[in-house]
Amino acid sequence: MDPVLNPFKPGAGLRPPILAGRDTLFGDFDIVRRRITELGEGDRSWILTGLRGVGKTVLIGELARTAINGGWIVAKLEVRKGHSMAEELATTLATSLRGARRRFDPHKLTQLLGVFTSFTVSLNVGVVTLGVDIDPAAGFADTGRLSTDLTDLFVVLGETVRELGVGALILIDELQEATAEEMAAVSTAIHQISQTSPVLPLFLVGAGLPSLPSQLATANSYAERLYQFRALSTLSELDSRAALVQPVIERDAEWDEAALRLALDAANGYPYFLQEVGKAVWNNALGRVFTVEDARVGTDVAREEVNAGLYQSRWDRATPAQKDLLRALAEEGEGDGVVVRDLARAMGKPSASALSVPRDELIKKGLVYAPERGVLAFTVPGFHQFIRDQD
Ligand SMILES: Nc1ncnc2c1ncn2[C@@H]1O[C@H](COP(=O)(O)OP(=O)(O)OP(=O)(O)O)[C@@H](O)[C@H]1O
Ligand SMILES: [Mg+2]
Repeated sequence: MDPVLNPFKPGAGLRPPILAGRDTLFGDFDIVRRRITELGEGDRSWILTGLRGVGKTVLIGELARTAINGGWIVAKLEVRKGHSMAEELATTLATSLRGARRRFDPHKLTQLLGVFTSFTVSLNVGVVTLGVDIDPAAGFADTGRLSTDLTDLFVVLGETVRELGVGALILIDELQEATAEEMAAVSTAIHQISQTSPVLPLFLVGAGLPSLPSQLATANSYAERLYQFRALSTLSELDSRAALVQPVIERDAEWDEAALRLALDAANGYPYFLQEVGKAVWNNALGRVFTVEDARVGTDVAREEVNAGLYQSRWDRATPAQKDLLRALAEEGEGDGVVVRDLARAMGKPSASALSVPRDELIKKGLVYAPERGVLAFTVPGFHQFIRDQD
């Protein structure tokens, strides 16, 4: 089939043709949106967690779009190792504030812009321009301590959007990469927001790997109660079908049922795999009805794409000691994880602590995580199979 017309969108953060299986989440967000817009009242912020490629970034993008369409003040950022979160936040928020200056009565923004300026000065975040000279607001966000200054900024942002009759949405992707200090600051600020009565209409959505909830809990003891944690899982059979079938029908092609079965089995419900498989089958299909043969060729191509895009570079970056641990993990299990003690035994090590160095390094690299204490699992779906196929 003509690749130009290919509807599938494999790739980080790329909006899929059909955003399957997330209706409940959007429905719940709509309730939050309406509470904020109609009552000026916020709600418990969300933390979205999920393995690589499950669709976190796409969701963040959709939520941002909804809020921007509603005229909200929106800041969307991605935490990157070695980069200051405050700086990323200030940069994206500045863009939204410049837009707000055009849409709203500037007098109603005076305090917010002043506190924002204090924030950028006291945390030394570099040049962030609002397109107008604003003096720092004395006594606000000027301590140089991230948690205090972020709290001041969030509170004035919440108060301002309530006054303006809209909401504020802060979206932080890859939150697991933030430092403990940054996580603690975010939770402190959200805690403050939620303690006002009624709750200020500032809503935060953080997204990250499944390790994120425990990282947040380590940074602040009350984090477990502060957020609503929502784990994004793989898609059901029905939703996976929709993700593969609808985009094809919309472009006047279709799947033979047996071919679809093959594609579904290859994708295993993972959103990213569904896109790779859909794309490869489309590109390799000889006619407008996708046959089993088309699906065979397509799934092989997709597998190679996934190997190259998802697994190979991660595998290549692992040291020999890390590879030994990854190999053992791949042999011992998949999915929910393996008890580290069992891994040690399988590797002929005297105890679990003998693995603590490679274990910690692999967690830092974001390749594995601890679903619970003493257990280890892959963050990248299907990695175990790739590793088993090596050598
Ligand atoms: N609900 C969905 N239905 C179908 N395809 C989806 C869905 N969500 C995401 N995808 C597709 O999955 C791929 C990965 O999405 P995304 O980048 O949002 O994942 P992620 O969870 O942010 O991954 P990572 O942890 O690597 O950042 C993209 O190609 C996207 O189009
Ligand atoms: Mg992502």
